[in-house]
Amino acid sequence: MKMKTFITAAVASISLMAVSAVAADLSIVSGSTGKDLEFMTKELAKFTAATGNKVTIVPMPSSTTDQFGQYKLWLAAGNTDIDVYQTDVIWAPQLADQFVDLTATAKDVAKSHFPSIIESQTVNGKLVAIPYFTDAPALYYRKDLLDKYKIAPPKTWDEMAAAAKTVLDGEKSADLQGFVFQGNAYEGLTCDALEWVKSNGGGQIVEADGKISINNPKAAAALDRVKSWIGTISPKGVLAYQEEESRGVWQLGNAVFMRNWPYAFALGNGADSKVKDKFDIVPLPSGGEGGSSAATLGGWNLAVSKYSKNVEEAKKLVMFLASAEVQKANALEASHLPTIESVYDDADVAKNQPVIVKWKAIFQNAVPRPSAPTKVKYNEVSSLFWSAVHDTLSGNGTSADNLATLEAKLTELKGDGWK
Ligand code: GLC
Repeated sequence: MKMKTFITAAVASISLMAVSAVAADLSIVSGSTGKDLEFMTKELAKFTAATGNKVTIVPMPSSTTDQFGQYKLWLAAGNTDIDVYQTDVIWAPQLADQFVDLTATAKDVAKSHFPSIIESQTVNGKLVAIPYFTDAPALYYRKDLLDKYKIAPPKTWDEMAAAAKTVLDGEKSADLQGFVFQGNAYEGLTCDALEWVKSNGGGQIVEADGKISINNPKAAAALDRVKSWIGTISPKGVLAYQEEESRGVWQLGNAVFMRNWPYAFALGNGADSKVKDKFDIVPLPSGGEGGSSAATLGGWNLAVSKYSKNVEEAKKLVMFLASAEVQKANALEASHLPTIESVYDDADVAKNQPVIVKWKAIFQNAVPRPSAPTKVKYNEVSSLFWSAVHDTLSGNGTSADNLATLEAKLTELKGDGWK
């Protein structure tokens, strides 16, 4: 078969996959954040060369919330057109019934992934998805601007806000913003707000044992602090920003600080970036006394639809994309954090993307969103939380009132237990 001649050393992991007798037409959804589409297109060409299977990418909106809504519709309708779904780390309990069990398929490689991630994708003994990359955010800061004003990278949120103000006052630029983050009313705000609350000693919204903890003074104080940034160090428009809007402002050189995931690192150092070589990252600040830095655990996985007409070939595809080779390439090209531990020890990764190695500890200490304790109700829990936060930041009710109302709504949703 001619196709086999295309197999290169880089795809050694799939060289054992026989070219199928009858090649399948597969489709996979892809996120469209940063370089995701470009990267996936390149990797799929290798898969096609090795297996003969053609793969169509169905691009998704970059909002994980919109993506989840689309998946729910497709899966409820038993859509046979999508074979492979990319799934957010928080979705396994909610979508478990719609995907095939990958336990047997992944039995030889599951142990090479971080056990905590495999565990997050396992529901009642079923491996719902195989990890593709993991995520833990950073505080991006402009080295050149902080050096100019002789400011050290901040360790607390108040230090960050003070530093931003010093730089803004000094630069007197109408375009420059102090701090950009994900303030839109969607899952990204749940991630950011969990960090503000947790780093201030205000808990994790719903704790691991299922207890609703969000209505407390430290959580309220954390939100009040962020509210004071809106219209001062952060633009009012930040309340409509997702990841890509924040990165857009940042990459044009128009922000002193940004909260974002590691993907923004490679892009920020791209040839067309205005901040190339002018920035670095540090762990997110803490709330000060009684708090410590908190990074929300993110990440993406690959699942095979139980409605797929080509389950066996689709399994090959997820195994290929989750392989160490592809994860290494994703780390080098898109600064995505691998889920396979050995990739962090790879000499090329250490040399060309040292930030990945540095971020391993941040990821290992990352705070999970309460998707495990709240089970199939996580999406509703998150949506109630981000709405309460968005209302507070928009000046629609006080933090104390909004968190008290949130507690009442969560209690009603929980009923006699999260099931
Ligand atoms: C990133 C994270 C994901 C999170 C999303 C929120 O994509 O990997 O886990 O839900 O951001 O916007």
